[in-house]
Amino acid sequence: MSSMQLVCVACKALYSVEEIRYRCECGEILEVQRNDWEEIKKQVTKKVLKDRQGSYEFPYNSGVWRYHELILPVEKKYIVSKPEGNTNLYFVGTESEQGYKKIGEYVGVERLFLKHEGENPTGSFKDRGMTCGMTQAKVIGAKAVACASTGNTSASLASYASQAGIPGFVFIPDGKISMSKLSQTIAYGATTLQVKGDFDVAMKLVQEIAEKMGIYLLNSINPFRIEGQKSITYELLQQLDWEVPDWLVLPGGNLGNTSAAGKALLELKELGFIKKIPRIAVIQAHGANPFFQSYTNGFKDKISVKASTIASAINIGAPVSHTKAVRVIHESNGIVEEVADEELLNAKAIVDRVGIGCEPGSATTVAGIKKLIEKGIIKSNETVAGYLTAHVLKDPDTTNMYHQNMLEGIHPMMRNEIIQVDATLDSVQRIIEKYIK
Ligand code: F0G
Repeated sequence: MSSMQLVCVACKALYSVEEIRYRCECGEILEVQRNDWEEIKKQVTKKVLKDRQGSYEFPYNSGVWRYHELILPVEKKYIVSKPEGNTNLYFVGTESEQGYKKIGEYVGVERLFLKHEGENPTGSFKDRGMTCGMTQAKVIGAKAVACASTGNTSASLASYASQAGIPGFVFIPDGKISMSKLSQTIAYGATTLQVKGDFDVAMKLVQEIAEKMGIYLLNSINPFRIEGQKSITYELLQQLDWEVPDWLVLPGGNLGNTSAAGKALLELKELGFIKKIPRIAVIQAHGANPFFQSYTNGFKDKISVKASTIASAINIGAPVSHTKAVRVIHESNGIVEEVADEELLNAKAIVDRVGIGCEPGSATTVAGIKKLIEKGIIKSNETVAGYLTAHVLKDPDTTNMYHQNMLEGIHPMMRNEIIQVDATLDSVQRIIEKYIK
């Protein structure tokens, strides 16, 4: 018997992992369920994980495959890893002795950590899910792989598909995708289809075409993507020496990452590595806030919206992993918040200014923490860990337009203008003197 099954998140129907399917007969999505917890508990101890940390040995040199037994129990020969993960956990609270404490001062938190997933090989957290999804594609002998994407998943899929030697197809929305992400996708060699429609249209189309043509779908609806993404939370907790923060805060788009964080926490509790589950706060952009609306509605209805936010990574109106994410909010006594584009861009400007940097979608984390502090929901003396999901170079156009004050309806709180200067020593010196005390 296999050590894994796929289980429906709603009706609990079971399916074999050998069967390629993403949805239950009832229409809901599936997740991986393990039947070998007793075995896992013997193999995965805190000491084993500590010994593997910093290893140069494949596949433990990866911050995903360090947790091999918990991610995907397959033979090493199938693993498609760069490696990925091993991302920094920055201490940015007011108690920090670095310039990073400006972030803590901005949001009002003494003990604040930011896990920078932009430090992954293709610049976003998607690599963690992709290494696992692409490995499963090899296990099943997929003839091709595909995804719909707001940009980061497509860059990641393109890169891993090339590495695996499997043809990759990405479906991107018409407009509202950053050129950096698009250029990564083209450079890594995926066949790139720009669909006349938004992300939600592209997502629907790719599911249909995958089914029709037998192409392996690598969106986060694929339960093996979620298995890989759990490692962000494993690694974060390991970096904190398994001391559980009061809050975990992350952006919500398609809600795959929220689902992965919740699953990871339950597993760490099952392993006995942690005793309590932190509260999870999911932050959405106001213009793409279906999950926030459902939350304020007591999750009575699954809401869809026509998405419109400057944070193009999370410009999603009908999140695929809604049901899983609802469960995470319930299990973690979590909450959902929304922030305006101006709030998230100003938060990004702070993260950028201290020298860390992130893309607009990631900055919802920091803007959300600030808002929750102001509302008195998060307390300034609680320990907070936030996820920065992608790199500052992922959306240079938005960054430049912010600093040039060219974004309609946005008042930049903290501009860093480019100064035009005559090519003479005198004029350059006059300017520099203004900046040196
Ligand atoms: N942050 C960034 C930078 C993202 O690219 C995404 C999702 C999210 C947050 C939201 O994560 O979907 O798991 O809730 N980007 C996807 C993509 C949809 O196609 O790259 P989620």
